[in-house]
Amino acid sequence: MTRVFDDDLEAAFGTRAIHAGQRPEPLAGAIMTPIYQTSTYVQEALGENKGYEYARGKNPTREALERNVASLEGGRYGFAFSSGMGCVDSIMKLFRAGDHIVCGENVYGGVFRLFDKVLRHYGLEFTYVDTRDAQRIADAMQPNTRLVFVETPTNPLMRLTDLRAAADIAHRGNALLLVDNTFASPYFQQPLSFGADIVYHSTTKYLNGHSDMIGGIAVLNDDDLATRLQFNLNAAGAVPGPFDAWLALRGTKTLHLRMPRHDQNGRQIAAWLVEKVGDENVFYPGLESHPQFELARRQMTGFGGMISVELGTKERANAVLSRCRLFSLAESLGGVESLISHPASMTHASVEPERRAKLGITEGLIRLSCGVEDVEDLLADLDQAFAS
Ligand SMILES: Cc1ncc(COP(=O)(O)O)c(C=O)c1O
Repeated sequence: MTRVFDDDLEAAFGTRAIHAGQRPEPLAGAIMTPIYQTSTYVQEALGENKGYEYARGKNPTREALERNVASLEGGRYGFAFSSGMGCVDSIMKLFRAGDHIVCGENVYGGVFRLFDKVLRHYGLEFTYVDTRDAQRIADAMQPNTRLVFVETPTNPLMRLTDLRAAADIAHRGNALLLVDNTFASPYFQQPLSFGADIVYHSTTKYLNGHSDMIGGIAVLNDDDLATRLQFNLNAAGAVPGPFDAWLALRGTKTLHLRMPRHDQNGRQIAAWLVEKVGDENVFYPGLESHPQFELARRQMTGFGGMISVELGTKERANAVLSRCRLFSLAESLGGVESLISHPASMTHASVEPERRAKLGITEGLIRLSCGVEDVEDLLADLDQAFAS
């Protein structure tokens, strides 16, 4: 399993983003971590090797990424996977039939699909609650609860969970707290510092930042948990190829430069949207009108570029989506380029319509991933799209 270099934890965030986990390559001194495009490693003799035997278990490019992101999250161990969902799947295999999980009701649709359509049939039990209210987490805890699973802010409704309160409740019940930190990125929020036991990301999003790979990563501190997750990683093998790991690692080098710009654009666009459709229809934790604005300020240092907007009907949503030019109509988020999407028919299509409606993921809801383009151009694009 991959443990951070201890001295990497001492530097400030931007320095860690660029250097953590990476040392000049010993053969030629290449400053960039090589792409170790290999499936296996030659062994010197039986039982003698350089610490690498077979690339499902360990790959130096992947290790550099794991160390890098672990340091950004302020954690000790990193585990890279072939997708965010592959990461969740391997984490969930830490649990066994009869274990109970309290899960946020508004997690990414693919997580709900994995839990409800797959893992439930293996005997894991799930209770879904509105984790905005910590008391509901407490009320859902059972003697067999082993995990509290939250996403904050949530996709797409931008709801927040009080991380400190959730960690306390989980720990009082001898359960772990797992946090999906994909929307905030470690630049704006570090869940381990609030008591979370495992933090995970779809690296596909802000960490990579360039929409050119799919990946996931988990970071944690506990030695025993790390040993068990490494076992699952190697046993199930949902690992990223070295090139994808390298792309993610290249992305994290500029995380501290990209995130402030996402945040700046996000704030300006959210303010513009409020003027257009009213603050009750704009979901962005950086707005004072967001019901959890105070909590956002307490546990996040910025709000990023994700905004959802309620337009009332599918027709209105479609009118805006189809007229956008700079905002491309596409699933995913967190890249340098701006995207726009329709959660009900895209990211959350796997959630049953009644459940979507109950959550507030309506046919009129659109989601913006504000990129790092010049904000005037983004606003001009929205202006002509909303004119419809
Ligand atoms: C918040 C969140 N978590 C997890 C995932 C799943 O990640 P991946 O698509 O890399 O499997 C996504 C994907 O959109 C997401 O938005």
